[in-house]
Amino acid sequence: MENIGFIGLGIMGSRMARNLQEQGYRLTVYNRTKSKAQHLLDQGAKWADSPKEVVQDTTIIITMLSTPEAIREMALGRNGFLKAMQTKNIWMNCSTVNPSFAQEMAAKAKEKGIVYIDAPVAGTKGPAEKGELVFLVSGDSDTMAKLNPVMLIMGKKIIPLGSIGQGSNMKMLINLLLAQSMLAFSEAMVLGQEMGLPEETLFNVLLNVPVTAPFLGAIRPKMENGDYEPNFPLQWMQKDMHLASLTAYERNVAMPSLNIAKEIFALAKQYGYGTKDFSSIYDYLKINNANDNY
Ligand SMILES: NC(=O)c1ccc[n+]([C@@H]2O[C@H](COP(=O)([O-])OP(=O)(O)OC[C@H]3O[C@@H](n4cnc5c(N)ncnc54)[C@H](OP(=O)(O)O)[C@@H]3O)[C@@H](O)[C@H]2O)c1
Repeated sequence: MENIGFIGLGIMGSRMARNLQEQGYRLTVYNRTKSKAQHLLDQGAKWADSPKEVVQDTTIIITMLSTPEAIREMALGRNGFLKAMQTKNIWMNCSTVNPSFAQEMAAKAKEKGIVYIDAPVAGTKGPAEKGELVFLVSGDSDTMAKLNPVMLIMGKKIIPLGSIGQGSNMKMLINLLLAQSMLAFSEAMVLGQEMGLPEETLFNVLLNVPVTAPFLGAIRPKMENGDYEPNFPLQWMQKDMHLASLTAYERNVAMPSLNIAKEIFALAKQYGYGTKDFSSIYDYLKINNANDNY
């Protein structure tokens, strides 16, 4: 089995890499915070001291980093991996980025004869752990076919979407719906309680009417118990809304409700919710609503 280089071992990347390792892939890994790689190193993964060093042993690099800025630094910075890669090597980026950034990275890779695959994922911490992510993939079809076995270890489904950037386009749409559904539901829950309806009744009724997004059923325990340990950090949701907004600007499309929602998430981030789960937007609204001075 080929050796795979994995860069970015946060909530998602650490679990995706672990699944590859469990299925027999040898890994060379790099993460800004080394301690997050320890569970992989204990099982035989090789540590690289920089992103550039990851490339020494591999022809396939997978990145699962937070933001376009972090990816730019890891790929093109002083110790970036891209300049160390060889012709025909593959870079599969699974991080959520804006489509124009994916296209820019694909072009930079192509200058060196490297094939960039745009492969964002749908699914959060649980599916990442169980190898049940959904890959929204775009790029060269032969390379995607070569990567199918790798993706099917980390995920349960691959959706090919065409030319570079279309995977990220689809991911933008999914996350703008995710954010706005979460926010609308949270607002309804806060208003409902102000009207005197018990929280439990609201959950029982609202989660069982067709107007409510189905994923919210799985979020209920987090909201009910105030357990905002992150599956999907709020700051990355706000980042994704920003990237969707930026993409809409590039396409000259007005997205008024997305932009209002984005700023509510930005306020929550400023009030310390950034590293909590994105569902903590409910807590943020509840607390502000309870404040008479608000
Ligand atoms: N969590 C989800 O449910 C989910 C689902 C689908 C897609 N995504 C996307 O997947 C990506 C990773 O998300 P995550 O939830 O795994 O986030 P995370 O736990 O915060 O991990 C972020 C990763 O990026 C690294 N990083 C951040 N800033 C960096 C910098 N300036 N230089 C180098 N490395 C940097 C972090 O390194 P450190 O460990 O040193 O901080 C970590 O490895 C994001 O693009 C996110 O939008 C997340």
